[in-house]
Amino acid sequence: METDDLAALAPRLPSPLEPVEDERFARRGLALLLKRDDLIHPDLPGNKWRKLVLNLRAAAGRPVLTFGGAYSNHLRATAAAGRLLGFPTIGVVRGDELAGRPLNPSLARCAADGMRLEFTDRATYRAKHEPAVLAAFLARAPEGTYAVPEGGSNALAAEGCAALGRELSGRADVAAVACGTGGTLAGLAAGFDGRALGVPVLRGGFLGGEVRALQAAAFGGPRGDWRLDERFHCGGYGRSNPELDLFVRDFEARHGLAIERLYVAKMLFALVSLAEEGAFAPGTRIAAVVTGAPDALPQDTA
Ligand SMILES: Cc1ncc(COP(=O)(O)O)c(C=O)c1O
Repeated sequence: METDDLAALAPRLPSPLEPVEDERFARRGLALLLKRDDLIHPDLPGNKWRKLVLNLRAAAGRPVLTFGGAYSNHLRATAAAGRLLGFPTIGVVRGDELAGRPLNPSLARCAADGMRLEFTDRATYRAKHEPAVLAAFLARAPEGTYAVPEGGSNALAAEGCAALGRELSGRADVAAVACGTGGTLAGLAAGFDGRALGVPVLRGGFLGGEVRALQAAAFGGPRGDWRLDERFHCGGYGRSNPELDLFVRDFEARHGLAIERLYVAKMLFALVSLAEEGAFAPGTRIAAVVTGAPDALPQDTA
């Protein structure tokens, strides 16, 4: 695949940086800016575009195999890229119990985009990064298939996300991003001349090591000024609590913007909490990276 093929998808880059009026920031002399990565591309929004772009160039039109859970946004984005750019995709889905069931709306979209789905038991899925396990998946795929890890996070993904940091350099002092695998933060921090703040949405305290490993693989060592605040996972991945629910509804009403719940909501919640704690000096320009849009798929009622 040529570089031009990806350009033909007409991504909206650099993504808009929008100031928002929010008195919780304004009364402390802080400026809140929304970095609208959710507007980059309708089928590859936010960090999906940034993480896939260099991987798809490296795949150069070969089939792409990747991994995800039954509701993975990354699987959907990869399947959509395959449809738009005309390369085959294979999605390894966690949970072999799903194999005999009707597809949920997320997997149905992947299949409609031409992705071949391979359901796998959870133990094999957990071991997917082991060379022998990965080799077994690739052996069942067409020759020359290019593998992208779960969540799309590898060295090329981190490199792709460095562009996010470059777009924000000189325009914000702090840039906050929600973290799952840490790939987006690893790249953001490397490209940014300010302070990057990562808000993990999973429990576990493992993320710092992941970010360091991704930076070592992508850039040869630590890059940028970044830290994590582990207090805002609200119980873990996909979990919420009444305080977060209330916060999101209020934020949506204040700003007329629907918020993605799994990641973006927790990052915004963290920023408002930190502002209220006095964590930022007056005059600080804070960019909140909107890494995704709310799910447009119908709810799975099965
Ligand atoms: C909307 C959204 N924001 C943030 C993230 C976290 O990105 P990362 O896994 O690179 O930490 C994800 C996961 O890819 C996501 O879907």
